[in-house]
Amino acid sequence: MPEAPQSDTFAALERREWARAELARAYAEVFAKAADMVVPTMVNAVRAEPGMQVLDLCCGHGNVSAGLAAAGAKVTGLDFSPAMLNMARAAVPAAHFIEGDAMDFPFAGGVYDAVTIGFGMPHVPDPPRVLAEVRRVLRRRGRIAFSVWCGPEVDTAFGYVFGAIDAHGSPDIALPPGPGANDYADPELAFSVLEAAGFAECRQEIVQSKWQVQDPGAPYDFFLHGTARGGALLRPQPPECAAAIRAAVVAKVLQNHGAGPSWDVPIPAVVTSAVVAE
Ligand SMILES: C[S@@+](CC[C@H](N)C(=O)[O-])C[C@H]1O[C@@H](n2cnc3c(N)ncnc32)[C@H](O)[C@@H]1O
Repeated sequence: MPEAPQSDTFAALERREWARAELARAYAEVFAKAADMVVPTMVNAVRAEPGMQVLDLCCGHGNVSAGLAAAGAKVTGLDFSPAMLNMARAAVPAAHFIEGDAMDFPFAGGVYDAVTIGFGMPHVPDPPRVLAEVRRVLRRRGRIAFSVWCGPEVDTAFGYVFGAIDAHGSPDIALPPGPGANDYADPELAFSVLEAAGFAECRQEIVQSKWQVQDPGAPYDFFLHGTARGGALLRPQPPECAAAIRAAVVAKVLQNHGAGPSWDVPIPAVVTSAVVAE
């Protein structure tokens, strides 16, 4: 039986899952090893420097905030998960963290030099609305950078796990309608939504992030325990489906990355950046 209530909306599922302390901890301690590799590219993309005012939306456990603060920026992190914010406050005492919704944040217009969104775009119900709000709070020539995972068209743990769910998952288990997990890796979509929101000079950069694992099934475990969307599809699977999904992930890792005893499993990311149009 599906674990998520049938009446769940995408927004309710996201809010409930990220609020769970064990999910937030699993994301921060394990899944985010790959997200952490993307931080330097995010920091460079907004040209963070001393004194700059930067808003880090969907800040999670504070990995991007930490990179921005290390570059000397004055950082405000925003997330709706108290569990994530507890970790962020402990990790980055120099930054200011507030609980709030990236769809509707309480800041005045034109106050930030840059906004970062690390792996937040697939989790908000209406990404164009978030980008319009980002434009509103940015100063003249302010910069935005956001990261998303590459989709299954490249060699990625993302494709291994979601491909295995497609092949072996119970047809009774589905997510509520929401944005696609990799939608904003597509430059055509990302740039057109940015331009409609008032941005120019759009560009994308691929980061070859990866997990180093001792178990070829680890990518399955990382998605199971440390993600809202993947976890909501994986946790309710009947045991035979769960076993088949994990076995398919193991087979992919062995086939593509050798016999081990340890594996570098790619989970590349795309960083999209832009500047407020003149
Ligand atoms: C995948 S984690 C990314 C964490 C971190 N930024 C990184 O780069 O690793 C997504 C984060 O977005 C937060 N989030 C999702 N939807 C949100 C929303 N509508 N408003 C605020 N935070 C949100 C979650 O609580 C979670 O901390």
